[in-house]
Amino acid sequence: MRELMIRSVPDMCSSIPLLFALISPFFLSNVAAECNQFSTNGSTAARYDFYRFYDFRNLHISGDSPSISASSNGKSKIVAATPWSSGWDSKNWHRPAAKEDTLPMQYAPSELSISNNTDAPEQHSTYLTLHTTLLQDGTQLAAELDYTEYNVTYASMRMSARVHGARGAVAGFFTYHNDTNESDIEIMTGDPSSQVHYSNQPTTNPETDASIPDATFNVSMAADASTSTWNVYRLDWVSNRSAWYLNGAQSASTEVNVPGAESMLILNLWSNGGKFSGRMETGDEAWFDIQWVELLFNTTASASAPGGGTVCSAEHSPGSPVPSNASPFYCSWLYATYFWWLMGVVSVVCLNDCMC
Ligand SMILES: *[C@@H]1O[C@H](CO)[C@@H](O)[C@H](O)[C@H]1NC(C)=O
Ligand SMILES: *[C@@H]1O[C@H](CO)[C@@H](O)[C@H](O)[C@H]1NC(C)=O
Ligand SMILES: *[C@@H]1O[C@H](CO)[C@@H](O)[C@H](O)[C@H]1NC(C)=O
Ligand SMILES: *[C@@H]1O[C@H](CO)[C@@H](O)[C@H](O)[C@H]1NC(C)=O
Ligand SMILES: *[C@@H]1O[C@H](CO)[C@@H](O)[C@H](O)[C@H]1NC(C)=O
Ligand SMILES: *[C@@H]1O[C@H](CO)[C@@H](O)[C@H](O)[C@H]1NC(C)=O
Ligand SMILES: *[C@@H]1O[C@H](CO)[C@@H](O)[C@H](O)[C@H]1NC(C)=O
Ligand SMILES: *[C@@H]1O[C@H](CO)[C@@H](O)[C@H](O)[C@H]1NC(C)=O
Repeated sequence: MRELMIRSVPDMCSSIPLLFALISPFFLSNVAAECNQFSTNGSTAARYDFYRFYDFRNLHISGDSPSISASSNGKSKIVAATPWSSGWDSKNWHRPAAKEDTLPMQYAPSELSISNNTDAPEQHSTYLTLHTTLLQDGTQLAAELDYTEYNVTYASMRMSARVHGARGAVAGFFTYHNDTNESDIEIMTGDPSSQVHYSNQPTTNPETDASIPDATFNVSMAADASTSTWNVYRLDWVSNRSAWYLNGAQSASTEVNVPGAESMLILNLWSNGGKFSGRMETGDEAWFDIQWVELLFNTTASASAPGGGTVCSAEHSPGSPVPSNASPFYCSWLYATYFWWLMGVVSVVCLNDCMC
């Protein structure tokens, strides 16, 4: 639906797309507002109290605010406009070299931006970019976004993303409480572009440095897939189990070192020049591009909240939770209603104002 949002409004006839733009988020909010819980599928199928969808695909809309929709109970929010960043903290932090053979890092808001899409076949106009580069003075500029609206206990987090650029960078999408309560998706520019890393920290025994079985997985994507093109990554963290999914299919699952403590959700792109990340050459760059982020989660505060109400499935399509007990006709009914409603609005505008 949001593909229909169009930028400028030179005359009345071409404002019809704007009507779509104004109405479609209203439509989205109506759907989301009905939902009290949000359900997922797969081996970690669960229900969550909170839902967020951050859509970076069409952020050139002027006027902007119409496409943020929130439910009245505050538990679901769909953000498809600038500023999208409320609830996210762009890290501004100098991290001195941790060890002799590593580099100092500067996490800077300047390394985050909205990029214009120039890929011809792609229909969306923008995406979010995290950037990293090794400066002449030996400092690694890096980017990090921390989700700060809530810390979460259990989550299903998804993103459509790609990672590209010089060897030596790590793109992360993860939960973090501390170094031993952390669950990760990591994509490294030094790897073959078919490789993705999934881990529950710690992955090695701190005393012996031996790797812990089933705490970390290196997964190869399907033969024709590449981390440098858009893919949907999903991490589910539920009680006693973590599972990772790639483009809708489970690719790893474990009960080892599953985090138990309330955690932040983090997106970052970094390199410390160490063994794990590898080291860039001076001036080298890498990019972590994100089309959207979808978060389903509980918080410690919500654990005692009453259940019930409408359960909506998040699996219908990204950014559009729909009542999960709805008949297959529900969606077509919804779309048909929407269509006829639009036709009505458009006709009224055309007859009265436009004469087109
Ligand atoms: C979840 O549902 C979606 C939509 O039907 C499907 O594409 C996806 O493969 C399912 N994932 C799992 C793990 O069942
Ligand atoms: C989230 O909390 C609700 C109760 O508020 C509970 O029904 C649900 O099972 C919890 N989800 C997970 C993954 O623990
Ligand atoms: C993207 O394009 C818009 C105009 O459509 C322009 O204002 C903006 O500066 C561009 N952003 C970048 C990062 O090039
Ligand atoms: C989340 O946890 C971090 C680390 O403990 C803390 O600094 C932050 O204030 C917490 N945020 C919220 C919204 O509770
Ligand atoms: C991480 O946090 C958990 C829970 O708060 C705690 O039990 C554990 O000792 C912490 N680990 C470290 C390395 O601080
Ligand atoms: C995964 O790959 C990394 C290097 O990219 C390697 O250090 C690690 O040992 C591998 N882990 C497993 C479990 O294969
Ligand atoms: C699963 O987690 C619960 C707490 O969430 C704990 O009480 C239980 O012992 C765990 N079960 C296993 C098999 O580890
Ligand atoms: C993570 O924190 C939980 C809850 O505080 C704790 O029980 C668990 O041992 C921690 N996990 C690890 C791997 O330290």
